[in-house]
Amino acid sequence: MNYKKYKKYPKVNIKNREWPDKEIEKAPIWCSVDLRDGNQSLPVPMNVDEKIKMFNLLVDLGFKEIEVGFPSASNTEYNFLRTLIEENMIPDDVTIQVLTQARENLIEKTFEALRGVKNAIVHLYNSTSVLQRKVVFNKGKKEIIDIAVYGAELLNKYKDKYPETKFTFEYSPESFTGTELEYALEICEAVLEVWKPTTANKSIINLPATVEMATPNVYADQIEWFCKNLKSRESVIVSLHTHNDRGTCTAASELGILAGADRIEGTLFGNGERTGNLDIMTMALNMYSEGINPELDFSDLNNVVEVYEECTKMNVHERHPYAGKLVFTAFSGSHQDAIRKGLHVIKEENNPYWEVPYIPVDPHDLGREYEEIIRINSQSGKGGTAYIMESDFGFILPKAMHPEFGKVIKAKSDELGIELTPKQIFEFFKSEYLDRKEPYCLKNYKLHSVQNVENDENSVDIEALISINDVNKKIEGIGNGPVDAFFNALHSNNINCCKFISYDEHALNVGSHSKAVAYIQIEAKGKRYYGVGISDNIDTASLNALISALNRCI
Ligand code: KIV
Ligand code: ZN
Repeated sequence: MNYKKYKKYPKVNIKNREWPDKEIEKAPIWCSVDLRDGNQSLPVPMNVDEKIKMFNLLVDLGFKEIEVGFPSASNTEYNFLRTLIEENMIPDDVTIQVLTQARENLIEKTFEALRGVKNAIVHLYNSTSVLQRKVVFNKGKKEIIDIAVYGAELLNKYKDKYPETKFTFEYSPESFTGTELEYALEICEAVLEVWKPTTANKSIINLPATVEMATPNVYADQIEWFCKNLKSRESVIVSLHTHNDRGTCTAASELGILAGADRIEGTLFGNGERTGNLDIMTMALNMYSEGINPELDFSDLNNVVEVYEECTKMNVHERHPYAGKLVFTAFSGSHQDAIRKGLHVIKEENNPYWEVPYIPVDPHDLGREYEEIIRINSQSGKGGTAYIMESDFGFILPKAMHPEFGKVIKAKSDELGIELTPKQIFEFFKSEYLDRKEPYCLKNYKLHSVQNVENDENSVDIEALISINDVNKKIEGIGNGPVDAFFNALHSNNINCCKFISYDEHALNVGSHSKAVAYIQIEAKGKRYYGVGISDNIDTASLNALISALNRCI
């Protein structure tokens, strides 16, 4: 690979940079460009119905500024804009934004497309980079400034024809990251000189990383330098518009905010030219996960993904931050165990802060489900399996049972070569423990309580009908409780001589009523086996647990 073909990106000459010591304190002004930059980059652009659906979604999410297209460039964009205006679909507190180049016929048509709207941002751009000046326009610096100033003057001219609308103007030195900083400032100042913004009527200067060319700190340096050197800074909203060519546009936008910017343009899930624009959802939820109100509502993220995929025909990647199908799924056993403990402690301690290892935000906050957190594959540990049994089905397996059941599930996952869902895990639990009715099966039983008055001791007498390989047999025994009595009855009939090790039980909430579940561990031929029984009656649950253990050790 011939890396010598590429030049180093120049550093910014900035003294005493301040952005590294700053913190993000509040949400910036968000502007969605899903319907423009996002839409223009789709293999199949959205039709009017899809655009309306997307527009409504953006409004519901809380966007107050939405770039709706390039109305002078295509009939679909023009008609879409007219539909929004004529059908009164733009809420009073939402400002729509339209893009135009600095050509009179385009600007005239742009204003005409906006007639009747209450608020609008008209976004003017021309490319200013060294490379584009040389290879695309073959023009010098002065001529490029003249294009921008000409466009700025036309915006002033056409604005006066539509007094019913409150216009805000935006200028982008397109390909800003490929433009000399001093020159980018000069061209923006020239445009502002025409618009004469005030603190009450600000203009927007948008500094696009049209192509992401350097590490995010360099972009932050550029933004800080620009903000500090801009003459009328207090009358200008400094806006960022990043693309993701190097995969670091979220970081660039975040650092750009530290460096002084006020506004962010981006799209949902980072749709946009080439590697895409900034993903506003990610940046907003990054703020959210640090306790900052993002001023956008992503509490039903699955619905956002659904509408986005339907309208754009693009897919949200499984590992996409916050929204991907797998981002709240832990595959590793140690991760599962840590998450389980974190969730438990949060509940026990009534902790108002979210502190769960490996999961930076509560999936419930985004309308996502805890049941998606853990799925089991052959690499998963015993803790994950036990967690599923408890969280999804209410079975609190005794600690000593975790490795045994974990091994059963690992073997099944290996055998099938798939990752198991909670439902499959429960089915395997049922067939391994609850449905073990052969060769031994308990048909019925009677218990008598015997009170020995002389020594004030209580014992239990059992008469049980069991079947062994479908042949019925009556057995009888006595013990200090039903399980002990049944155990002794089996023993005295020479049925599977094993050692009793442990007993656990708890109530199992099934629907509106409670069942009992019992776990019995026995030892036979030097090995230990669990059995599990459930019933409305705790004695039946316990006797079935013993039968289940006996059947498992055969
Ligand atoms: O990426 C870009 O430079 C743009 C401009 C039109 C703002 O999309
Ligand atoms: Zn762009």
